[in-house]
Amino acid sequence: MTAMKLLVLRKVSGTDRSKPRRRLIAVAAATAVLLAAPNAALAMDFPAALKRVDHALKTNPSQVSQFALDSCFKRRNFAVKLYESRQVDRAERSLQFCFDALKISEVAPAAKKQAAPDMDKIKAKAVEEAEQALSLTPNVNHGLEIYRECASCHKPEGWGLTNGSVPQLAGQHSNVVIKQLVDIRAGSRGNPMMNPYSCVEAIGGAQSVADVAGYIDTLEISVANGKGPGINLEVGERLYRENCARCHGASGEGDPLTYAPRIQSQHYKYLVRQYRWIRDSKRHNANAEMTAQIKGLKMTEAKAMLDYVSRLEPPAELQAPEGWQNPDFAESQAN
Ligand code: HEC
Ligand code: HEC
Repeated sequence: MTAMKLLVLRKVSGTDRSKPRRRLIAVAAATAVLLAAPNAALAMDFPAALKRVDHALKTNPSQVSQFALDSCFKRRNFAVKLYESRQVDRAERSLQFCFDALKISEVAPAAKKQAAPDMDKIKAKAVEEAEQALSLTPNVNHGLEIYRECASCHKPEGWGLTNGSVPQLAGQHSNVVIKQLVDIRAGSRGNPMMNPYSCVEAIGGAQSVADVAGYIDTLEISVANGKGPGINLEVGERLYRENCARCHGASGEGDPLTYAPRIQSQHYKYLVRQYRWIRDSKRHNANAEMTAQIKGLKMTEAKAMLDYVSRLEPPAELQAPEGWQNPDFAESQAN
């Protein structure tokens, strides 16, 4: 059911059912308001509203049914996708559904004016958890159980999506996976899409982080990743050597010692997005030295570099055979 229909229905049930004329007027009025000003229908601060929905999903303050929770959860994810593709109006309308389904008020409580989160504290917490996870021995079987959830986005093979909306995880250095995962769940690397799946409530503490990273470590890299348009590759190569290779390696293999991610064979569009976010300080866990390094580069130069990087391949022994399917997921693939 669309948010609009739900709103209308709510309005209907709130009026006197024995008086159809009044009901009709109410429906017409509600529809008119929504249709006349679709953009201004909800003056919503999307990130703040999303936070409230996520909180309500966890705590279920109005004790709504499991069905309502499930449908809200789906709509919430859809809203995030819309928001990320800059369809803000549609995203807000989609999120509106959750306020209705979970029976939470659209108006944030007045006392809710919180200070900005303390990024240093958040980072320190993440460092602590990453260190703990790194010291533990992974249980790969438990890792697979956790990874089943991750696979809905990252795919059973860990190859993500070639359109770059979801990164390839296969082949990523284990300690980088751990660091990024704890950064995401601590909030120092914004990723609203993944939050509910990666939080402690969903997967467990440091041991679980170690386990799922241990499982991801068993996956091999796809070189059929998303590539760039293939222009200016020579320029890209030169700039890569000059600006990036000392940290990310001569062929983009990264360096676990310095937590520099493997970026070879990563989806081009994902690389571009991360690069932008690092440059614009939208990714709070960015490496300060890298941010300084890329300051003077133009976006056209960066795109040429990242296109070149997306075409760099890992050594043959790390590459998955073409068309390989993860046998751990054989059952779900047969369906
Ligand atoms: C709802 C979809 C979704 C689910 C489920 C999901 N992820 Fe992600 N994940 C993403 C997206 C999207 C990104 C990229 C975010 C960005 O662009 O910043 C990402 C990024 C990551 C990264 C960072 C990769 C890098 O190169 O820095 C790691 C690590 C990761 N996910 C691990 C996991 C694990 C482990 C799970 C399961 C516990 C999981 N994800 C579940 C969507 C998802
Ligand atoms: C001083 C070392 C250093 C230099 C130089 C550097 N990087 Fe990085 N880069 C890093 C580190 C460390 C990270 C991971 C930061 C974190 O923890 O989030 C990173 C992250 C990235 C990511 C995100 C990868 C992912 O999986 O999410 C991209 C893309 C990237 N770098 C591209 C580049 C490019 C292109 C250049 C050259 C213009 C470059 N970097 C130069 C150290 C460096």
